[in-house]
Amino acid sequence: MSKVRFGIIGTGSIAQRFFAGLAHVPNATVAAVYSRGGAKARQFAAVHHIPTVCDEIDDLLASDIDAVYIATPHPSHATFSIAALQAGKAVLCEKPAATSLDELDAVIATAQTTGRLYMEAMKPPFFPLYRLIRERIDAGAIGEVRFVRAGFANPNVAEGHAVLDPAQAGGGLLDIGIYSAFLAVDWLGAAGEIQTLGRIGASGVDTFASLNIQHERGISQLYSGLDIAGSGEALLGGSAGYIVIHDKWWNPAKATLVNALGEREELMMTPQGSGLNYETAHFCDLLRQGRLESPIMSHAKTRAALAMTLSARDTLLGIAQ
Ligand SMILES: NC(=O)c1ccc[n+]([C@@H]2O[C@H](COP(=O)([O-])OP(=O)(O)OC[C@H]3O[C@@H](n4cnc5c(N)ncnc54)[C@H](OP(=O)(O)O)[C@@H]3O)[C@@H](O)[C@H]2O)c1
Repeated sequence: MSKVRFGIIGTGSIAQRFFAGLAHVPNATVAAVYSRGGAKARQFAAVHHIPTVCDEIDDLLASDIDAVYIATPHPSHATFSIAALQAGKAVLCEKPAATSLDELDAVIATAQTTGRLYMEAMKPPFFPLYRLIRERIDAGAIGEVRFVRAGFANPNVAEGHAVLDPAQAGGGLLDIGIYSAFLAVDWLGAAGEIQTLGRIGASGVDTFASLNIQHERGISQLYSGLDIAGSGEALLGGSAGYIVIHDKWWNPAKATLVNALGEREELMMTPQGSGLNYETAHFCDLLRQGRLESPIMSHAKTRAALAMTLSARDTLLGIAQ
């Protein structure tokens, strides 16, 4: 396979950004698009010159595509992932990969039994700056990372948005807290004890969470908020220095590294495209190589980040574990 042919499921705001990013991905195209009822897919296809429009998901999955990009709300992610894998398509699915661990385990099991590539579209680790940070830390620039402090908070949520709707698996933790959960898991491993404080908003979803977490290799302090603004910085504290990834750390472009001698180094790598192009290019490379899982965004990392996020959310909601 030279050119990877994507089918897009959903035509909302992130689907637009995915399409914009694709212009920066070598040898990849959108061959088909699906939306409920088809009207929005027809509009999306007309604007972006996509040859095939599907009114039904089964038509998309039967079309001449190699992979799907799932860009619909959280509760539909697992269902579409399983359907696409069973139809023999590779899957790049927006975060969060699922809304429960049972759902995620079913997705991963389906990927394994069908022998198809599955990856959560967790964008930060694919940005050039994040990769540079990984290289520098692997080379010992700040010693061993033992502490992660990060958050994401944005109070400008429109009334009626899915993120405020419990029926849509809304709440800050699952929507934006999942980024920080990924960051902590990526550097410190899976979570053990999780101390959770926070608030439930009027609609019944978590609107603020502050977490202290014991991981396999250190401790993280994370927050997510839909009712406050946050600074968007992340700190990676090491045994011989630290790195601050500046606002917005989840679209990393600028960082400061301070070594054990107190020497400062500015790291800057301006992303191209919409930023989603880096994860997409990686996914296409894996597909061409016949790989079933990303070594960067592995199934285990997806599971560990989701597990700690759901655990904190359920604590806040008072659901018995
Ligand atoms: N990686 C990132 O940077 C990033 C950023 C933002 C969002 N996201 C993720 O992307 C997902 C979508 O977010 P968004 O902001 O793009 O939302 P959005 O703008 O509301 O778009 C959602 C799309 O899904 C469609 N849809 C809704 N329910 C559906 C269903 N049951 N079956 C089929 N299609 C359905 C909607 O179609 P209708 O018009 O017919 O309702 C719409 O086209 C979320 O899970 C979110 O976490 C990721």
